[in-house]
Amino acid sequence: MLVNFVFVICILSLCKCDEPKSCSQLEYLGDILERMVRIELKAESLDKELSKTNSEAMSALEELKLERERFRSDISVFENQIKAEKERAELDRANIENNMKQLKQEREQFKSDIAIYENQIKAEKEQAGLDKTKLESELKELIGERFQNEMNSMRELMLTPNILFKAKNVKDRSISYRRTILFTDIIMNNGNGYDSKTGVFTAPVNGTYLFIIHMCLKKGKIFEYNIVRDRNVHTSGRFCGDKLYISCHSANAVMYLSVRQRVRLVCSSTPNVSYYTNALDESTSSRYWNTFTGMIVHL
Ligand SMILES: *[C@@H]1O[C@H](CO)[C@@H](O)[C@H](O)[C@H]1NC(C)=O
Ligand SMILES: *[C@@H]1O[C@H](CO)[C@@H](O)[C@H](O)[C@H]1NC(C)=O
Repeated sequence: MLVNFVFVICILSLCKCDEPKSCSQLEYLGDILERMVRIELKAESLDKELSKTNSEAMSALEELKLERERFRSDISVFENQIKAEKERAELDRANIENNMKQLKQEREQFKSDIAIYENQIKAEKEQAGLDKTKLESELKELIGERFQNEMNSMRELMLTPNILFKAKNVKDRSISYRRTILFTDIIMNNGNGYDSKTGVFTAPVNGTYLFIIHMCLKKGKIFEYNIVRDRNVHTSGRFCGDKLYISCHSANAVMYLSVRQRVRLVCSSTPNVSYYTNALDESTSSRYWNTFTGMIVHL
C-alpha cells in the first residue's frame, strides 16, 4: 500500500503543470497523497508501537499470570498451613476439652474424697473427744482414789490418834504404901488405854504422853505419890493438905511411851503414920474429884 502511495506520489511529482487550475488540483492530490503516506507511515509506526505495546502488555500479562499463579500457589500453601493450623487447633481444643473434662472429674472425685476424709476426721475427732472425756474421768477417779488413799495413809502416819482418858473416884480411900491407886469411874477412854480394874494405862501406840493427877486431901493430911512407868518411878511428889479445909492439888508427867508400856499412880506415903493414912477426900457430895487423866500429845 505504502509502496503504491509512494509510486503515485512519484508519478504526480513528475507531471508538469500546464494550467494553474489543473496544477493546483494535482498538487492538492499530491498533498493528500503525501498526507496519506504520512498517515500510513504513522499508522505503521503506530502499529509497530502498538504491537510492541501489545507484546509488552502480553508479557506483562504473562508476568501477571505468573504472579497470580505464584500468588495462588502461595495462597494455597497458606491455606494448607491455615487448614493444618486449624486442624491442630481443633485437635488441641479437643485435647484441652478432654483434659478439662478429666480435670473436672478429678476435681469432683477430689471433692468427694475430701468430704469422706472430713467425715472420717470428724468422726475420729468425736471419738477422740469421747475417749478423752472418758480417760479424763477415769484418770480423775484414779487420781482421786489414789489421792484419797495417799491422804488416808498420810493421815494415819501424821495425825496423832485421839488417845485420851480421864477417870475419877478412888473407891478404896484407905490406900496404903506402894499400892496402885484405882480410879474406878471412867469419864472418857478414847483408845481404851486405861483399865479401871487395875488402874493402869497401857500405851496403844508409841508416842509422847501427858498425865495429870488431881488429888483432893482431907484437912491436915499429906499425900505422897509416884507416877510409875512400867516398874520405874518417872515422877515423884507430895501434896500437903490445908490444916482447916479440904484442898486439891495437881501434878503432871510428860513421857515417851513405846506401845504396851504401862503407866500408873502409886501411893508412896510412909506407912503407919497418922497424917498419911486415909488422906484422900472423895466426898460423898462429889464436889471434889480425884482424877487421873492421860493423853497422847505427839506421835
Ligand atoms: C515403837 O517403838 C519401838 C521402840 O521404841 C520400836 O521398836 C517400834 O518399831 C515402834 N513402833 C512403831 C509402830 O513405830
Ligand atoms: C502398920 O500397922 C499395921 C497394924 O497396925 C501392921 O499390921 C503393919 O504391919 C504395919 N506396917 C508397917 C510397915 O509397919
